[in-house]
Amino acid sequence: MSAEVYYFTGTGNSFVVARNIAQKINGRLVSIASKEDENNLLINAKIIGIIFPVYHATFGYSGIPLIVRRFIGKIENINSKYVFAICTHSGMPGATIGNLNKIIKSKGGELSFGLTMKMSIPYTGIDKIKYAFFNTELKANILRDNKERQNLTEICNEKINSAYEHIIANKKGKLETTKIMFQLLHIPFYLLQKQTAKSRYKRLSNSSLTTFDKLTLFADRNFKINEKCNGCGICTKVCSVQNIEMVENLPKWQHRCENCYACFQWCPQDAIYGEIVEYEKKYHHPDVKLSDIMIK
Ligand SMILES: Cc1cc2nc3c(=O)[nH]c(=O)nc-3n(C[C@H](O)[C@H](O)[C@H](O)COP(=O)(O)O)c2cc1C
Ligand code: SF4
Ligand code: SF4
Repeated sequence: MSAEVYYFTGTGNSFVVARNIAQKINGRLVSIASKEDENNLLINAKIIGIIFPVYHATFGYSGIPLIVRRFIGKIENINSKYVFAICTHSGMPGATIGNLNKIIKSKGGELSFGLTMKMSIPYTGIDKIKYAFFNTELKANILRDNKERQNLTEICNEKINSAYEHIIANKKGKLETTKIMFQLLHIPFYLLQKQTAKSRYKRLSNSSLTTFDKLTLFADRNFKINEKCNGCGICTKVCSVQNIEMVENLPKWQHRCENCYACFQWCPQDAIYGEIVEYEKKYHHPDVKLSDIMIK
């Protein structure tokens, strides 16, 4: 049984899931970023795993990061593979798995199963509303977060075991995705959120670009650096798409940003800030080291 587990990650959540699955099925762990410069990919392994974070599903977009969509677009022989996917998220994966299956189907393949795993603990909606309207400080509740994280880890481990059973038995399983009826009922809500998100990204990217994907690439215009930056260059090394260059010992973003926030999350000096990360809790997965995330 030959298997390759491909992952994209910012804070390490998807990396940990990918590493666990790869270990269990004795598969090769491969970073999607390492395939960025290759075209027309022919994968030899019989089993392909695709593990990634959900992005912007909350706003009615596909939920699939651009780099993952590019990667799938390049695989030429996906139609002859056993393909499974796991997306990690913070509570609202929406139809991400269903959308991914549509892309794979358009290439003649299909997902054998697709799971969603809640991993991160965002600020609550109430926290965000209070922050936005009453300027209340956004503060992590460490005790609550740790407890919730423990529960989430147990659920994830169960799902990883179930994934393993399916893969070794070459079996099909569920696609964990929003039901079509639910999606239809939520159309007005999604439309409103889509517009709000687009306006926010127009502001962040300081641009009049019209597609949401393009706006996200330029949202890095909003990253700022404070006086704590010591020019260590770690931010350049954790960026999957080499979007940061050091200019006169300071990071400079190059506008092909995936919005993974790895640069912000892994900066050892807490030197990166900006409205783009205002709702982000400083976090990376506890089982991940900087050396795991650095682009090789
Ligand atoms: C730009 C961005 C958009 C996100 N959008 C969603 C979303 O729509 N729904 C959700 O549940 N989580 C969302 N998240 C949370 C991530 O999916 C979650 O934290 C994930 O586990 C991160 O994985 P990673 O550590 O592998 O990068 C978003 C995170 C980022 C950075
Ligand atoms: S990782 Fe932080 S401290 Fe290091 S160069 Fe980047 S912004 Fe500066
Ligand atoms: S610049 Fe930062 S947020 Fe953008 S892709 Fe690179 S690491 Fe991720």
